[in-house]
Amino acid sequence: MTLKNMLHAFFNQTGIYIGKRPTVNGKANFSIDGFHYGFSFPSANYAPWRGDEAFMNIYNQIKSNTLVDIYRCYELWQLVQKVNSLDPEAAILEVGVWRGGTAGIMAQQLANQKSNAVLYLADTFTGVAKAGTNDSYYTGGEHSDTSQQIVEDVLNTKSNYPNYKILKGIFPDDTAHEIKPDEVFGLCHIDVDVYESAKDILEWVWDKLIPGGVVVFDDYGFHSCTGVAKLVDGYRHYPDRQIIHNLNGHAVMIKLK
Ligand SMILES: C[S@@+](CC[C@H](N)C(=O)[O-])C[C@H]1O[C@@H](n2cnc3c(N)ncnc32)[C@H](O)[C@@H]1O
Repeated sequence: MTLKNMLHAFFNQTGIYIGKRPTVNGKANFSIDGFHYGFSFPSANYAPWRGDEAFMNIYNQIKSNTLVDIYRCYELWQLVQKVNSLDPEAAILEVGVWRGGTAGIMAQQLANQKSNAVLYLADTFTGVAKAGTNDSYYTGGEHSDTSQQIVEDVLNTKSNYPNYKILKGIFPDDTAHEIKPDEVFGLCHIDVDVYESAKDILEWVWDKLIPGGVVVFDDYGFHSCTGVAKLVDGYRHYPDRQIIHNLNGHAVMIKLK
């Protein structure tokens, strides 16, 4: 453990948080393209993941394979359990797998549920696709430091769920045809960083979602992904869905019927 980590651990135990929050030009409060960002640090402290042994076991195995923090990983863990209880046959789709961390969390929860639902895992494995004028930071090709083999190693050695299928290429354009036409979905985890990709995935999956099914946008709360906030906020007035902004950064879009 480094001296920095030791100091953090010591002060965090006493309730004093020491850490750096995101800034732009040295400021924690700023706006980009009309979206406001600021120091956000909820005072609530219920932390159920700490007592969830099964979750902590898989999280500790995959945490070096994910860019997603424990709060968002735990929300995925809980949502997989919930949608699987709504419809045990409903498939799960993740677009934006990178090195397989969040995929491993969802796979392990499906294994715990003794599910047979298919877990579809889509990634270009050549980085972010379809960055455009709606995106403030991404230009395309980021997060290419991965491979299908790395993801298969996580799935085969850390989580214990054989019923997954990797879709290599831009989703939906290149690989959606590999999914059987009558497949229905309980959960879609969209972690692709940019507007156009996220939009195409949402529009592809929406009619295939079960009532009560959920689309999770990993990137909604991050200033590097204003395109995703723009996309999700554009659906807020739609009567067929509820959209919740979780301060962990997720937007959770629930299909009402
Ligand atoms: C932030 S990473 C995903 C992080 C991952 N969920 C984790 O656990 O850390 C974003 C990934 O999205 C992929 N990606 C972006 N747009 C895509 C698209 N339209 N189809 C397939 N993959 C895409 C990139 O290749 C990249 O690996």
